[in-house]
Amino acid sequence: MSSQHELILILDFGSQYTQLIARRVREQGVYCEIHPFSTSLDRIKELNPKGVILSGGPSSVTDEDAPRLSKEFYANVNVPILGICYGMQLIAVDLGGQSQPAYEREYGHAQLKRQSGPTRLFSNLPEELDVWMSHGDHVTELPEGFHKTASTGDVITAIENPESNIYAVQFHPEVAHTPKGKDILRNFLFYICSVEGDWTPAQFIEEEVETIRETVGPDDRVVCGLSGGVDSTVAAMLVHKAIGDRQTCIFVNNGLLRYREFEDTLRMYKNNLHLNVIGVDAADEFYAALGKQSKPEKKRIAIGKTFIDIFDAEAKKIGGVKWLVQGTLYPDVIESVPIHGSSVTIKTHHNVGGLPEKMHLKLIEPLSELFKDEVRIIGADLDIPDEILQRHPFPGPGLAVRILGSVTRPKVELLQKVDKIFIDELKENELYGETWQAFAVLLPVKSVGVMGDFRTYETTIALRAVNSTDGMTADWTRLPLDFLAKVSSRITSEIRGVNRVVYDITSKPPSTIEWE
Ligand code: XMP
Repeated sequence: MSSQHELILILDFGSQYTQLIARRVREQGVYCEIHPFSTSLDRIKELNPKGVILSGGPSSVTDEDAPRLSKEFYANVNVPILGICYGMQLIAVDLGGQSQPAYEREYGHAQLKRQSGPTRLFSNLPEELDVWMSHGDHVTELPEGFHKTASTGDVITAIENPESNIYAVQFHPEVAHTPKGKDILRNFLFYICSVEGDWTPAQFIEEEVETIRETVGPDDRVVCGLSGGVDSTVAAMLVHKAIGDRQTCIFVNNGLLRYREFEDTLRMYKNNLHLNVIGVDAADEFYAALGKQSKPEKKRIAIGKTFIDIFDAEAKKIGGVKWLVQGTLYPDVIESVPIHGSSVTIKTHHNVGGLPEKMHLKLIEPLSELFKDEVRIIGADLDIPDEILQRHPFPGPGLAVRILGSVTRPKVELLQKVDKIFIDELKENELYGETWQAFAVLLPVKSVGVMGDFRTYETTIALRAVNSTDGMTADWTRLPLDFLAKVSSRITSEIRGVNRVVYDITSKPPSTIEWE
């Protein structure tokens, strides 16, 4: 795909913001890819970028083992370069200037003042800008040919060398706390790199559909596992658009889904999206595989293995299947950089890990170049209902990781009803979209309560709601107290067997989002 489009290359030095840079570039209609800082010059030339952005990173350029670029990079890359934070310090040091540790780390808002004199990066921008800083080192001596274009207090905040087409900023233009950051990136992309902006989600659909058609060929059959979530649904719809009913989707009920989710979602797949889908109700098999198991990892393994067996058996019934569709996203395939503290960690949850190997199938991953927000945009273009596109993430092992200890059908049914009250209330009070993920957890804890004249000794429910962008880190959502009071009162009055509701106020880290 990338070869057909103008490309901006982001070299990753391990910043937590690297993916954010990529999203900001794509929001401007410009295709970009993240590659490790160690990518060879030959490979860079092959990628044929229109510009290169050097990301920030946790290292100090003064460290002996700091990540560096090859000597020939600057002289031979022959396209504009923008360094951000660590990227700026690296440019300064590599080209003969100096960068030194500051007395203390600068973190947070700062006010930037432009220098008088020419600047291409800040073209048409105000003399003073609010910016977001996060750095320990800063540039103290400019390399030859560079001039300072902005400062914050005594710190050199931006430099450029228009002759060699190299630009650098100490702050983070990609974060929302730098309100004019978008304009700065736009100047780099459209004015300095002269891109036209030829990448849109709608075009993506057209091209991807064509690619899938060519890849699969005229006769092959394809299977796709649907989960009810955004990624698998959008992937299946793209493949459906390309090859129609030669794709068979398999939606497995593991007995651990949300309230009526299997029936409702299956109906939507068939009636609204017109997918060629088989619904497999395998709840009994999953409960049998779980048995009395109470250890989190063992539960996950039992569910994963059962899923693979069932999926494999269903696919064999179809016969002649050569391909497996997976909704893998771009953040899952970005090669991580070998720097301590790098943000780019490959996800450890593999719901269907081992499936392609077991079935000897080739993979189709139509979303592997996209971020989640782009998948939602494409999903809307494909007329997938909001109910799926805006649905909160849901773990592959389902409610099994929200029932602490052993899993039984009555426990699942109880939790489904509790969860439905919480989610219905969130939707009714227009809070569903305000939190990234919300759910209830069934604790293996009984406590004493009182109901009328009777003492009770019953189960405890924990409610959890978090805000996050990618699930890697999360903060607990500050839901209104009156709202929580209402949910708690509904749960204890409507669900028999629950006499206490608590709200989880821990962030990730140190907790995880799910309780198991
Ligand atoms: P944790 O609990 O690791 O979860 O903080 C981060 C995000 O991942 C989801 N999650 C899973 N998703 N398969 C999935 O597809 C899994 O096995 C799995 N476990 C956790 C979790 O719901 C949260 O959004």
